Amino acid sequence: MEAFLSLLGKVTSIFKRRPAPARSATVGARQAQPTSVPAFLESRRDRSEGVLPRFQTMASDQPYAGGGDKMASFRSRLRQAFTPSHPVADGRMFSGRQALLRTIIGAIENQRLHVVLYGERGIGKTSLLHMLRSAAGDARYLVVYTSCGALSSFDEIFRGAAADIPLLYHSGFAPNESEAERGSSLLDLLPTTQISPRVFGDLCAKLTGTRVLIILDEFDQCESAAFRRDIAELIKTLSDRLGRVQLVLSGVAGDLSDLVEHIPSIRRNIFAQHVEKMSDAEIASIVANGERETTMTFEPTATAFVVAASRGSPYLANLICHHAGHTALNQQRTTVKPADVAHAVEQAVDEFASRVSKPLVARVARIMEGNGSAIAAAARAALAADGTFTLQELVTEQDLDAKRAQQVIQLLVAEGLLREIQNDDTANYRFLDDGLPAFIWMSWARDGLEAIPTAPPSVRKTTSTGASA
Ligand SMILES: Nc1ncnc2c1ncn2[C@@H]1O[C@H](COP(=O)(O)OP(=O)(O)OP(=O)(O)O)[C@@H](O)[C@H]1O
Ligand SMILES: [Mg+2]
Repeated sequence: MEAFLSLLGKVTSIFKRRPAPARSATVGARQAQPTSVPAFLESRRDRSEGVLPRFQTMASDQPYAGGGDKMASFRSRLRQAFTPSHPVADGRMFSGRQALLRTIIGAIENQRLHVVLYGERGIGKTSLLHMLRSAAGDARYLVVYTSCGALSSFDEIFRGAAADIPLLYHSGFAPNESEAERGSSLLDLLPTTQISPRVFGDLCAKLTGTRVLIILDEFDQCESAAFRRDIAELIKTLSDRLGRVQLVLSGVAGDLSDLVEHIPSIRRNIFAQHVEKMSDAEIASIVANGERETTMTFEPTATAFVVAASRGSPYLANLICHHAGHTALNQQRTTVKPADVAHAVEQAVDEFASRVSKPLVARVARIMEGNGSAIAAAARAALAADGTFTLQELVTEQDLDAKRAQQVIQLLVAEGLLREIQNDDTANYRFLDDGLPAFIWMSWARDGLEAIPTAPPSVRKTTSTGASA
């Protein structure tokens, strides 16, 4: 008991020695209370008075009832405008890529080709597909959108597609026949046994009065070679039979044959499109569209910082703008300044670091000393392509001299951060962890933001329809 009392005495004296905590304006009214109240009791009181963090927006997207944050409506608009964790689904927020979308529509409409979109992670493939889907819907195409998974099978995906195609478009059924009227679909005509590309293709050949786009996103996720082979066969069957069904495949890949197998047999039937990084003007239009939607303003230098730090990645642009906007609002400003962008980049670095293992982060930090710009160039090269790059690209596209490029590759390989992939006769390099290029580039961008030229690219606010705003 004595021991317990002496321990209690020690604890109490520690509380007494602790200086009174700084208080915010809202809790200042309680300052008259005795300062000897132990800190743990203080914190208990704080909680009961509702200062615990809480959501700022209701599930209905309305500002929290009775919430005092006068920036709440800006925050809500900011969340809609910059969506780093979602593809763009709203045409108003879709920036750039107009020519690309026009080309894809032309290939579908004029050449009746099947489309394969490929490109690096986060480059905007799904967002582009959403715009294509909506444009096709406007032209009364039936659009079936499916996201593939590791275990996707031909049978499962195309039964799903058949269920979305009403029977009334089958040439064997008149529109007034009761089955067509009852809302039956092509699924009702499929056998219960596993369906093959030929069976599905034959059924599609009988469609009339409509056109169907079947979009298979995340095609790279599918691990089954049989599924990929079946898709190639379906493309061949649909093309030979002049079917009114066209496929659009999309996935992460450096080149076409990485994504679609058996390419030689279907090369003439597909339109393959690499989705490239965005131009500076396109990135600037992401900022400009966000300004319009949020009614906030990015200072020209802040926009230039976003453009420079994003390196053509719409994902990075959305992430940085999102954080920078919140940083400004936290300071009760609706104008985003360069310092907010710098802070946003800092936050992004922390986020990326948390996705890479600690030993890798430490190794990068160590070797960046003295080699920062060359390592950042390698990271940029990896971000610009599909994650792989060559020595030559470091020289021609990242302006490193050949000797320096060779040195940095050797250093990164020796440190176990980069691995060599022999592709035909060329050595390609890829960072060991896919999160490393963004982490390295952002760390470098954070340290060098002041050195970045500040003249913003000229920009118009555009939407997917091409309208200026
Ligand atoms: N045209 C665009 N305008 C504005 N933001 C865009 C555009 N395209 C993509 N983004 C943004 O970039 C990010 C990545 O987009 P998206 O999910 O479409 O890429 P993805 O290539 O499908 O990625 P993944 O390979 O991971 O599936 C998202 O935050 C999205 O909001
Ligand atoms: Mg996607």
